[in-house]
Amino acid sequence: MRGAGPAPAWGRVRRATERDLPLLVRHRHRMFSDIGRRTEREITAHDRVYRAWARRGMRGRRFFAFVVEAPQGRAVGSGAIWLQPQQPRPGRLARPTMPYIMSMYTEPDARSRGVASWLVAEMVRWASERGYPRIFLHASAMGRPIYQRAGFENGNEMRLELPDRVRRRR
Ligand SMILES: CC(C)(COP(=O)(O)OP(=O)(O)OC[C@H]1O[C@@H](n2cnc3c(N)ncnc32)[C@H](O)[C@@H]1OP(=O)(O)O)[C@@H](O)C(=O)NCCC(=O)NCCS
Repeated sequence: MRGAGPAPAWGRVRRATERDLPLLVRHRHRMFSDIGRRTEREITAHDRVYRAWARRGMRGRRFFAFVVEAPQGRAVGSGAIWLQPQQPRPGRLARPTMPYIMSMYTEPDARSRGVASWLVAEMVRWASERGYPRIFLHASAMGRPIYQRAGFENGNEMRLELPDRVRRRR
């Protein structure tokens, strides 16, 4: 796959396969560690669950991951699109699934060289070539400027955080 948009002058973006699952799990683990809102124990417990979920998603063609490789083949960044199920809607948004960008991570020594921006540009192209009218994501503080530069805007989503005791009863 050739780089679109703000591509760095090196490396390539390729589609991930099941062989990349250990890398994708490691990157997602480090993403949560860097974001800093979950304990290491919670993130480690999540690794196995994510790996199984991502594998099922790859097999079911609803999870598509992308890896940026440096010229020598070292994977320096990754990100993924999950085709998220949607409620029925009228008009142009009437699609059973909508792309959701997730698990964005760049190795610390490869940061600020456009790796994540390149991944985002490729994923936007992937979605637009398939006719999707919109892409969703949730941004970390570190990721927000990259998405804003790529044209992402805040939408009208609202949420209510429920106390833990209510959540446990479900
Ligand atoms: C957020 C994260 C993925 C960004 O990765 P990155 O590869 O460093 O991102 P980029 O290089 O594309 O952009 C970062 C900066 O490099 C600059 N940059 C340097 N060369 C660039 C190029 N050729 N093209 C585009 N941007 C370039 C950008 O201007 C940008 O500047 P900013 O700091 O003002 O935003 C990375 O910091 C990370 O993994 N953080 C921890 C996990 C996380 O928060 N993930 C995001 C979840 S939403």
